[in-house]
Amino acid sequence: MHFTLHATDGAARAGTFTTPHGEVPTPAFMPVGTQATVKGLTPEMVRAAGAHIILGNTYHLALRPGDEIVRDFGGLHKFMHWDGPILTDSGGFQVFSLAGQVKITDHGAKFKSHIDGSPLELTPERAVEIQQNLGSDIAMVLDECPPATSESAKMRAAVLRTIRWAERCKKHHSRPGQAQFAIVQGGLNLDLRAECARELVAMDFPGYALGGFSVGEAPEAMHAALPACAACLPEHKPRYLMGVGRPQDLLAGVASGIDMFDCVMPTRNGRNALAFTSDGPIRLRNAKHRRDPAPVASDCACYCCENYSRGYLHHLFAADEMLGPTLLSLHNIAFYLRLMADARHAITEGRFAAFRAGCLARWNADS
Ligand code: GUN
Ligand code: ZN
Repeated sequence: MHFTLHATDGAARAGTFTTPHGEVPTPAFMPVGTQATVKGLTPEMVRAAGAHIILGNTYHLALRPGDEIVRDFGGLHKFMHWDGPILTDSGGFQVFSLAGQVKITDHGAKFKSHIDGSPLELTPERAVEIQQNLGSDIAMVLDECPPATSESAKMRAAVLRTIRWAERCKKHHSRPGQAQFAIVQGGLNLDLRAECARELVAMDFPGYALGGFSVGEAPEAMHAALPACAACLPEHKPRYLMGVGRPQDLLAGVASGIDMFDCVMPTRNGRNALAFTSDGPIRLRNAKHRRDPAPVASDCACYCCENYSRGYLHHLFAADEMLGPTLLSLHNIAFYLRLMADARHAITEGRFAAFRAGCLARWNADS
């Protein structure tokens, strides 16, 4: 994994990392393609919206269709017809959030499939094997992500287990060309975060993620913790904030020195008729849009905004037509990707703080 920093502005960074399937300019947003599809969008649409890299999920793909089936189709890129970079999450987080009856020991996480209830176990070694079968460009280690509200003894135990599991993942990893990133846990306890980061940095991974954010804590608490957490990570390696977040959270992350993000918000909200715009979110189901000939966003050049009115989108959602979720997912992804491209541009020109303040003022968001 090659990562080059082109410019910094305060703690914010503009860089580029290189994968076997191409280069990724940072700060980068990764649209979520959990089940080998970015929901409702073809890879051509995702590419046209400006995506350089997408995210896939170990947990879902191992359960269905099965990682060996994906491997036998030539890997995830071929299977889903996306030839750009792919990062896969390791599955631990999904086990805790989706599966039933999780029992976690040092050996791994025993759980019941959310699809058919069958008993399964995800170990650090198995998480590595699944991601090697999928053939992603970036694989994540298996980690334990406790709720933000966990007591400090439980949080500390999860951090120690996350460190042991990272070691086992690194030892088991063998796929040439695939980079394996470690994940820092520790919740809002900055001492635990620093300790976890110190141990993982000593293992010399090619990139580092911050996990365990946006798991029930106040957004302001996350924003306050991010600068110190990012500062514990190596300067010349990519930093990834997992599962975050709202547009204002991404800008808080960038300001703290984070390089990569993923989140279901643009696609999930798009399916729900909510569109992100430079003037804040709008709800296309609202009757006030029924006769509105304006595009979703007048400053957006995406396929949705170039060709369709708010009135048409309102109609599609009222009639429960599939094209509504498709068009708004496309627009929202384009919005997130343009936000990252604009942030990068602002960083290279040394005006990121003013850019961020301007965005927040227009969104009417105060964080
Ligand atoms: N996605 C969002 N948060 C997390 C996390 O803490 N760990 C992992 N593996 N994935 C995540
Ligand atoms: Zn648009």
